Amino acid sequence: MRLGVIGVGGRGTGMLSNFLAIPHVQVNAICDSVKEHATHAQEMVEKSGSKRPETYTNGEHDYENLCKRDDLDFIYIATPWDWHAPMAMAAMKGGAHAGLEVPAVNTVEECQQIVDTSEKTRRHCMIMENCCYGYSELLVLNMVRAGMFGRTPSRRGRL
Ligand SMILES: NC(=O)c1ccc[n+]([C@@H]2O[C@H](COP(=O)([O-])OP(=O)(O)OC[C@H]3O[C@@H](n4cnc5c(N)ncnc54)[C@H](O)[C@@H]3O)[C@@H](O)[C@H]2O)c1
Repeated sequence: MRLGVIGVGGRGTGMLSNFLAIPHVQVNAICDSVKEHATHAQEMVEKSGSKRPETYTNGEHDYENLCKRDDLDFIYIATPWDWHAPMAMAAMKGGAHAGLEVPAVNTVEECQQIVDTSEKTRRHCMIMENCCYGYSELLVLNMVRAGMFGRTPSRRGRL
């Protein structure tokens, strides 16, 4: 899995460390408008034993150049909210699947634009809502599916 990461502040750096712990993940490119943040992340990748990733630090729109690379399967985005939708769309248009930090977007219009872009490009856009996949959440989900809390009320009955 070849990754690009946009936004390596608090959350992005933490997630980068998680990505680096997964076998067969290769971080090829990192973008942050603050050069020191990108350099720090670049060093993290190198220290993990991987090849030095290329950095994109030339202003707020340099992510567009990262998204044009042809060696990225997935682009993870952990920037401030206003950037989420344009970055996810650029990622998908460039051919990668996108992973967006929460909240994914600010408006319903942005949601629709992301859906349209995903359908057009046939790329996924996933909201990285960690609470859906945490230990406790998956535990309870499996308990519900195993019927430990009784039957789920019929949706049709409620309507
Ligand atoms: N899922 C979670 O549990 C969780 C936890 C914390 C934060 N978040 C989300 O993660 C995102 C980032 O939060 P954070 O706390 O890491 O913020 P942060 O300010 O620490 O990091 C944001 C980074 O994005 C960079 N950035 C800003 N604009 C950019 C641009 N145009 N191009 C490239 N880089 C740019 C900043 O320089 C910074 O390094 C937010 O959407 C936040 O809601 C999610």
